[in-house]
Amino acid sequence: MSDQSQEPMKIIIDTDPGQDDAVAILLALASEHLDVLGITAVAGNVPLDLTQKNARVICELAGKPETRVFAGARSPMERPLVTAENVHGSTGLNGPDFADPIMALQPQHAVDFIVETLLSQPAGDVTLCTLGPLTNIALALQQAPEIADRIEQIVMMGGGFFEGGNITPAAEFNIYVDPEAAQSVFGSGVPIVMMPLDVTHKVMTTKKRIARIEALGSSVSRFVVEMLEFFERFDEEKYGTDGGPLHDPTVIAWLLKPELFSGRYCNVEIETGSSLTDGMTVVDWWQVTDRAHNALVIRDVNADGFFDLLNEHLARY
Ligand code: RIB
Ligand code: CA
Repeated sequence: MSDQSQEPMKIIIDTDPGQDDAVAILLALASEHLDVLGITAVAGNVPLDLTQKNARVICELAGKPETRVFAGARSPMERPLVTAENVHGSTGLNGPDFADPIMALQPQHAVDFIVETLLSQPAGDVTLCTLGPLTNIALALQQAPEIADRIEQIVMMGGGFFEGGNITPAAEFNIYVDPEAAQSVFGSGVPIVMMPLDVTHKVMTTKKRIARIEALGSSVSRFVVEMLEFFERFDEEKYGTDGGPLHDPTVIAWLLKPELFSGRYCNVEIETGSSLTDGMTVVDWWQVTDRAHNALVIRDVNADGFFDLLNEHLARY
């Protein structure tokens, strides 16, 4: 985590928009402390043709059509793609109306962009922010293993332990879609900060919080409210909650204000050989093994502080 008073932190956002991904991208693009070198789309919530388009829609909404957006993996490394239209809608950004983007998609493959950027930027200068399945990152590590020592850190939304899973009883969606990719990333030795369901389920888009965003009164805040009102219906209808978990912006919030969060360094392994628990993040929270600590696992958050940070940045649009 570079000092806020210094140069902006260089980041690549790997994403499968997704309404919560979209809010994370808006948060990042609003910050003077982050230099978004590129946005790489991956298949996840919806197929790649939609995630790459949605990423460009959000960049244009943010007034940043110069942001470079790249398309990456169409499917997981070894498994068929599983998507989540039941949560995000058929477009992946259901809720607001929006036109096709005008800004172009970059011609370079996302994995090549990730490798090229990490090899050309000074070692340790670039943070990867992953908001979807880890396929692009694992493919980049496979293509150029030498990048592992050049990544400052990977801050990811993914996994769950005491909170269980949201796509199976044991697995969270981002990890479940490509467990082999997750296994490769967690075994890479790259410093990882993991935002699992245990913390994202504590940042709920309650009616009061949605009203605060609505009160900002901009076209961006309206778009966000319409996205979130669609996105949260899944949890409200299924679980009777007030709002839904705003998963992906926790990744960006960590970079901007890590003091909002707390957790502990643990060993995390990924199940890839069980039809019952494939994609499970097996977190040794109580340190009962001598397996190496490979991730800072975040469990708690100052939720009001998180939404204050989000509102402060959305107000800049
Ligand atoms: O399980 C939540 C994660 O899966 C979020 O990143 C959401 O966007 C979906 O990709
Ligand atoms: Ca996502």
